[in-house]
This record gives sequence, structure tokens and C-alpha cells, in this order.
Amino acid sequence: MKASIALFSPAAILMATDPAFCHPSPGHRNAVKLNIPDTAIGASIAHSTSFSSFSFEPAFWVEFFGNGSSPNPLTFRLLDLITQHGGQPLIRPGGITMDSMIFDASAGDPVRTTSATGGVYRTTVGPAYYESWSNFPNGTKFVSTLNFGNDSLDIAINMAVASVMYQPDLVEYFELGNEPTNYDESRWNDSTAAYVAQWKNWTAAIDTAVNATLGASDTTDLGNERWWASSATTDVTGLHVRPADIIPAGVNSADQVAEYSIHSYPFSTCDPDRAALATIENILNHTGLAQYADVEIYPSAKAALDAGSRWVIGEFNSISCSGNPNVSDTFAQALWVVDSELIYATRNASSCHLHQGATLAFQSTDQVNTAGANGTPGFSTYDMLYPESSNLRGEARVLPSFAGQLFLAEAFATEGTRIQNLTVQDGVDQDYFAAYAFYDKDTLSKLAIINLHPYYANSTSDYTASIDLLAYAHQSHDEWQGKGWYGRHGERGGKQPYLKRLTAPYTNEKDEAKVTWAGQAFTNATANGAVRTERLGWEGVVRVRGSEAVLVFLN
Ligand SMILES: *[C@@H]1O[C@H](CO)[C@@H](O)[C@H](O)[C@H]1NC(C)=O
Ligand SMILES: *[C@@H]1O[C@H](CO)[C@@H](O)[C@H](O)[C@H]1NC(C)=O
Ligand SMILES: *[C@@H]1O[C@H](CO)[C@@H](O)[C@H](O)[C@H]1NC(C)=O
Ligand SMILES: *[C@@H]1O[C@H](CO)[C@@H](O)[C@H](O)[C@H]1NC(C)=O
Ligand SMILES: *[C@@H]1O[C@H](CO)[C@@H](O)[C@H](O)[C@H]1NC(C)=O
Ligand SMILES: *[C@@H]1O[C@H](CO)[C@@H](O)[C@H](O)[C@H]1NC(C)=O
Ligand SMILES: *[C@@H]1O[C@H](CO)[C@@H](O)[C@H](O)[C@H]1NC(C)=O
Ligand SMILES: *[C@@H]1O[C@H](CO)[C@@H](O)[C@H](O)[C@H]1NC(C)=O
Ligand SMILES: *[C@@H]1O[C@H](CO)[C@@H](O)[C@H](O)[C@H]1NC(C)=O
Ligand SMILES: *[C@@H]1O[C@H](CO)[C@@H](O)[C@H](O)[C@H]1NC(C)=O
Ligand SMILES: *[C@@H]1O[C@H](CO)[C@@H](O)[C@H](O)[C@H]1NC(C)=O
Ligand SMILES: *[C@@H]1O[C@H](CO)[C@@H](O)[C@H](O)[C@H]1NC(C)=O
Repeated sequence: MKASIALFSPAAILMATDPAFCHPSPGHRNAVKLNIPDTAIGASIAHSTSFSSFSFEPAFWVEFFGNGSSPNPLTFRLLDLITQHGGQPLIRPGGITMDSMIFDASAGDPVRTTSATGGVYRTTVGPAYYESWSNFPNGTKFVSTLNFGNDSLDIAINMAVASVMYQPDLVEYFELGNEPTNYDESRWNDSTAAYVAQWKNWTAAIDTAVNATLGASDTTDLGNERWWASSATTDVTGLHVRPADIIPAGVNSADQVAEYSIHSYPFSTCDPDRAALATIENILNHTGLAQYADVEIYPSAKAALDAGSRWVIGEFNSISCSGNPNVSDTFAQALWVVDSELIYATRNASSCHLHQGATLAFQSTDQVNTAGANGTPGFSTYDMLYPESSNLRGEARVLPSFAGQLFLAEAFATEGTRIQNLTVQDGVDQDYFAAYAFYDKDTLSKLAIINLHPYYANSTSDYTASIDLLAYAHQSHDEWQGKGWYGRHGERGGKQPYLKRLTAPYTNEKDEAKVTWAGQAFTNATANGAVRTERLGWEGVVRVRGSEAVLVFLN
């Protein structure tokens, strides 16, 4: 059988790369070569297993996580799956609603005070909110997020003190305010210096109060550098407080900053003009995503790195104002998440916090999304799950994008992984293709190959990219013919590379049951089916259909 790109089914693709089913074919002659450096020279910083992390809108804490005594099993099964695959997400309970959040020692689980249309005026939390952090997987750390929006130092100090009183060992960082670029203009009258002065004044006061709470027997590893700074968006606003603006303004003169945070939303449904651009074709365009990263984000990243600090994507998702139905709730979102995090990993972000939440009625008056009936939560269509059933979004369920989290968890499962992007001369559509090399110390360990080309039921081509990895196939054709072949998965071949595939029937698939990572679907947040790896065949060609990604394990 000659491997044919006219065969679409995953089974056919498996056969095409599996010598047990495939006669020698000249497939590699048409395959595209990647330019893969053998060593990590030029690669990124060493990444941690927390690279792929989360941000959860705190007003919807109970919907996503339940409470201390009754945790939401669907969400926690997903987090457990991520840790089982090698990830260790850092949790930021942050977003717009942290800026109207109040700690009240006599309160219990988080409670929203809302308008009739679901606009959140306030979220009140008691000790039970912090206690619920104990339900997270072993090793999970948190960003203690503080309200700057109410302009009350007491409110901010009370939250900071409560977080270390109830969870002294789980607080890794503090963050004061979310997206100050969106505050009322009169707060700082567009003065970067006025913003920085107030930020420094407050963070110093909060440090003093937190240290006093921890006392002499402080067992935490919170040092002087414990703050996330900036938390700005890339929107055009009068107030300039991105990291690139506040670093020269002296925000870190007291050496309090651990990491600079910037928020990334390349698309939006906050208004009709931008909603028209929030399409599958655009969110999968790697050229556009890399340009956004280089123009809007990288100057701040570079300012942080040049100042000797780390930087993070403190909050991000594909389409601001809760996503776009039929775009961000499809399999395309899984491919978008994977490529976006790898784009930021090559640019030396220390972590990326994928935002999860629900529509915020006060965010925009002409947005595409709304809250549910009577102001109930209208879960964001870019979420990886709908944590509970609702009239607006239907049954509580896992969304197609979740499988992308497992791709990322395995990609960064080795502490200290470094990464760089790979170029390919021709033979692929550059706008819809991305490839990355991973290094364990200085040794090439993995490849990620992402074919972002939208592929629909009505497509006239499947846009398969054939990648020549012959140099990494450890057995020659003669050896293969001489010995016959080993087991289906190359077990006995020892070093023979294998791959795991992230796939779905089509790019716009909305049914999680049809989305697979290494052959498994994660419906109901449980792994269904057997793990399926594909051995790199002797011809050394990996075929990746349009709207598919593979992670190749080289050793
Ligand atoms: C926790 O949530 C459960 C289920 O919603 C509820 O029955 C219980 O009262 C809550 N516990 C507390 C302490 O609020
Ligand atoms: C949690 O992780 C720590 C450090 O990785 C380990 O020592 C401890 O045994 C783990 N605890 C549980 C309950 O798994
Ligand atoms: C905090 O600010 C919000 C928004 O301006 C307001 O609705 C809320 O009442 C304020 N809360 C307190 C406790 O001042
Ligand atoms: C901002 O400008 C307004 C109007 O000029 C003034 O009333 C207000 O005090 C200014 N605020 C700050 C923080 O300087
Ligand atoms: C610092 O904050 C305190 C308390 O809010 C305030 O009284 C003081 O004026 C502030 N100082 C500066 C320089 O902003
Ligand atoms: C708070 O404690 C940390 C750790 O001991 C120390 O590095 C820092 O300087 C202290 N900050 C203040 C304001 O006391
Ligand atoms: C991808 O985005 C780039 C940059 O915005 C644009 O020039 C190019 O035309 C887009 N490609 C496709 C196929 O839409
Ligand atoms: C590859 O990564 C470098 C940073 O290491 C970046 O400048 C460049 O734009 C990236 N190329 C693409 C196509 O993403
Ligand atoms: C999403 O797609 C479905 C099926 O094609 C369609 O019925 C529905 O109207 C679309 N929803 C939106 C918001 O476009
Ligand atoms: C990332 O960090 C590495 C190691 O410090 C450096 O060599 C590289 O130039 C950086 N890349 C970018 C895009 O900042
Ligand atoms: C193919 O299907 C997609 C998704 O349903 C649709 O948006 C597009 O218009 C269709 N194209 C043609 C040529 O019918
Ligand atoms: C989902 O998983 C839960 C817990 O394992 C189980 O009780 C429930 O029946 C499952 N639901 C479906 C639809 O599989």
C-alpha cells in the first residue's frame, strides 16, 4: 500500500506511519525537512512543569471548584489528569472580579453580589475560600490576588493577610489589581508615575502586614521578591503601565518584583467589529499570533528579561469577552492553546495562565456573549469545561480544548525543558504551520509539529504535511527487512522515536468524545480508551493532517 494523503481517518494515518502495515514507499522524497539544531544553543530559558498554568475568575470560584467539603468532581478530575500527565499548574484566582473582592472573616464560601443581568458588583469571601485551596492536587501553588479597584488599602491588606493566615504554604506570589489599564481614568489621570507610586506604597504596606502575620516562625519561602507587577492588557489606553512602561519608571526600586505579568487576548468579541475577526481561520493563523506576540507582548518581555526578572502571561485566552461560540468551543481552540503557549515559551515566559470564567455583563455593552437567565453564569466559550449544567451552555462537560492541556503537560513534563521554534523552507503553508524542538538540558528530546490549517467536512484537501524525520529513525531499511519488525509500538526497538497525536474529525468539532490525545478521549473528565502511540517508521516520515498536532518523543 502506498501511503496516500487522500486517506483521512486516524486509522489510515496510523497505518501510514506504521511499518507493520506499510510497504516501503518513497514517501520521504516528498516530505518536508525541518531545520532542527542538535543542541539547545539559542533555545529558551529552562521551563518548569508549571509552565502551562491557569487563571480562574474568582467570582465563579464555587461553580468551578465547589467548596471545601464538596469539591466539584469534574474540575478536579481534569486537574488530576493534568498532573498525571506531568503538569503542575500554578493557580491565579484572578481577573476583573478580583478588583471588587472583599475578605470578611465572618463570611463563608465566595458569594457574588450582582445586578439583574449578572453584572458582578462584589464578591465576598470568608476563610472557607482559602481553605478550599487545599482540595487542589498536591504541589499546587497560588497567586494571592488583591483588590486594587476599590482603592482601599484596608481591603487589600485584609485579603493578603487572610491568604497567608489560612494557607501560609500555598501562596507563591501576590498580585495587586487586574488590568489597571481599564480602571477609571481619574484614578491616576493617565500618569504612569502616579500609578507606580501608589503600587509601591501599597505593596510595601502589605509586605509589612503579611510579615507581621507570619511572625518570627515564618515557614514560607516568600522572600522580598514576591510580587507580580503590571497585569496590564495590550489594549490601547491612556494609562501606560505595561512592564515596558513601569520598569523604567522604577517600579522595582525596592526589589519586590518576582515576575512581570502581561495579559494576552489577540481577538475579542467585546464589540461587533472585533467579533467579525474572531474566526477559526484567524485564531489558527500562526503568522498573526506570532506578530501579536512580537509587537504587543515581546517589548515588555524583553524589558523584564533585560532587568534580570522573569515575566509571565498572567492571564490569556483566544478571544476576550468570553470567547466566540462555534469558534472557541471547538477543537480549533485546542490547537490555538498549544501553539500560543509554545509561542510564549520560545519567548521566555515563565508561565502562561489560561483564563477560565463566565461572561461579565459590565465588561462591555455590545459584546456577543451574555450571562444566563436571571443573571446566572454564562460560562465562557473559551473555557476547557462547563463546570456545571446551565440553560445557556447545556450539560456540565469537558470541552474539546481540554485535550490540548495534556499535550502541553507532557511537552513540559521534564523540569528544565528548553524550547525553540523551527523553520521549514517550503512545502507547508507557513501561516498555518508551526514546529518546535524541546531540549532536556542540552539534548534534543522532543518535537512538536502543529498543522493549524483549518480542515472541515467540506474541505477538498486534508492539507496533510509530511515531515521528514529520517535522521531520527534509528533503524535502516535493511535492518528492518532483515529482522522483521518489532511490536506495534516499537517497545523492543528501545530508542525508536514514537509520537502522540492530538486530533479530531474536523477543526470545528464540538463534541469532546471525538477529540483524542494519544487515542484517548476525556469525556466526563475520565480517560476513555487505551493510550495509543505511533512509532516512527523506518521511512522516517510523520504525517500531520490539517488541524492536527503531534508530539514526537525522540528518546
Ligand atoms: C458546600 O457545598 C455543598 C454542595 O453545594 C453544600 O451542600 C454545603 O452546604 C456547602 N458547605 C458549606 C460549608 O457552605
Ligand atoms: C506531595 O508532594 C510532596 C513533594 O513532592 C511529597 O513529598 C508528598 O509525599 C506528596 N504527598 C501526597 C499526599 O502525595
Ligand atoms: C468596590 O467597588 C465596586 C465597583 O466600583 C463597588 O460596586 C463596590 O460597592 C465597592 N465595594 C466596597 C466595599 O466599597
Ligand atoms: C485627576 O484630574 C482631576 C481633574 O483635573 C483632579 O480632580 C484629580 O484630583 C486628579 N487625580 C489625580 C490622582 O491626580
Ligand atoms: C501611602 O499610602 C498611605 C496610606 O494610604 C497614604 O496615607 C500616603 O499618603 C501614601 N503615600 C504616598 C507617597 O502615596
Ligand atoms: C518581609 O519578609 C521577607 C522575608 O523574610 C523579607 O525579605 C522582606 O524584606 C520583608 N519585608 C518587609 C517590608 O518587612
Ligand atoms: C495570516 O495572518 C497574516 C498576518 O496578519 C496575514 O498577512 C495573512 O494573510 C494571514 N493568512 C491567512 C491564510 O489568512
Ligand atoms: C521564532 O522564535 C523567535 C524567538 O526565539 C521569534 O523572534 C520568531 O518570531 C519566531 N518565529 C515564528 C515564526 O514564530
Ligand atoms: C453554531 O453552529 C450551530 C450548528 O452549525 C448553529 O446551529 C448555531 O446557530 C451556531 N451558533 C452561533 C452562535 O453562531
Ligand atoms: C531566551 O533566553 C535565552 C537564555 O537566556 C536567550 O539566549 C534567548 O535569546 C532568549 N530569547 C528571547 C526570545 O528572549
Ligand atoms: C465549509 O464548512 C464550513 C464550516 O461549516 C463553512 O463555514 C464554510 O462556509 C463551508 N465552505 C463551503 C465552500 O461550503
Ligand atoms: C461521569 O463520571 C462520574 C464520576 O466518575 C459518574 O458518576 C458519572 O456517571 C459519569 N457520567 C457519565 C455521563 O459518564
